[in-house]
Amino acid sequence: MKTIQLKVNENVDNSENYTQAVDYLNNGEVVAFPTETVYGLGAVATDEQAVQKIFAAKQRPSDNPLIVHIGTVEEVTLYTEGIPEVAKKCMDAFWPGPLTLILEAKPNLLAPSVTAGLTTVGVRMPNHAVALQLLQTIQKPIAAPSANRSGKPSPTKASHVYEDLAGSIPCILDGGMTGIGVESTVLDVTITPPVILRPGGVTKEMLEEVIGPVLEPNFEQQKIESTPKAPGMKYTHYAPNAPVYLIEPERALIERAINQLQQQQHKVALLAPVHFNDIEVDTYLSFGEANDIEQMSALLYDALRACDKTDATVILATTTSQQGVGRAVMNRLEKAAGGNWYK
Ligand code: TXA
Ligand code: MG
Repeated sequence: MKTIQLKVNENVDNSENYTQAVDYLNNGEVVAFPTETVYGLGAVATDEQAVQKIFAAKQRPSDNPLIVHIGTVEEVTLYTEGIPEVAKKCMDAFWPGPLTLILEAKPNLLAPSVTAGLTTVGVRMPNHAVALQLLQTIQKPIAAPSANRSGKPSPTKASHVYEDLAGSIPCILDGGMTGIGVESTVLDVTITPPVILRPGGVTKEMLEEVIGPVLEPNFEQQKIESTPKAPGMKYTHYAPNAPVYLIEPERALIERAINQLQQQQHKVALLAPVHFNDIEVDTYLSFGEANDIEQMSALLYDALRACDKTDATVILATTTSQQGVGRAVMNRLEKAAGGNWYK
């Protein structure tokens, strides 16, 4: 299958490109498109055969449900029921935006593989001009996971989607680099108090200001308790080819680690803030300014993907602050590293 890439810039009339993308979707095909978090791989959420193509293209396990994207807040009542007051407050405060709400699905409306057999569904209204234009043109719910091959870092550029999925999907809408860079916060509002299932751009603090107490499981603790017998099997998500090790952002520690690894014949890639860019290493990848966590979030997946284009056999990635979106960045880094630390 040939994969076409359609550029959608703000400065030109893109209506033909949207029409083409909508035609693909209405004809039961999948289309990759940008959101404010990462690129998604979309299909009409009520079309089971189309949704199956998402799983096939990504090689995604079928027991992992998909997020349904909508173009207006009102549409949420078409596909879900019993929407609690806290959910409404969240929609008012954070939609459009990087917050996925887990709600009770109306039965027999969405394609079965969207919910993977659950009675609930994750819904979000993305805050990205291209995604909104697409959704508001087609006026249908679009199921979309991140548009990467399963296990790889999520795509933050159209070229990342192309690298992973060219030949397997017909169309990519190229809207440039995404802004936030890590996937949306997933909040389960079917239980009280609500629980953060995945940290993202909307933080616990932001949520609690609007709806009061929210539970955020200790993701690190969870990992220790359920470390699988075959490490990496369960937790190497978001991962480049070479193994990732987390390291504290301290110059002496980093330099010692690089020396030790190079003595073991390793080629080392270092993902670290710009004030470490003078450290001698095989490959240096910028993690932006150490005190700019939004920038680090935006750069993370592109940097992890860039490692695959080097001859690095080991990746050292410095830890970040846990403030704001830093919680999500560290969560993804921990997963990419499968719990490995360089000490
Ligand atoms: O930012 C994002 O959320 C991106 C863009 C494309 O919107 N999408 C994304 O989708 O990250 P995906 O499929 O890679 O991640 C969806 C997450 C998974 O962890 C999935 O298990 C969870 O949401 N999820 C979806 N439906 C759920 C449900 N009914 N109950 C619990 N978790 C659910
Ligand atoms: Mg994903």
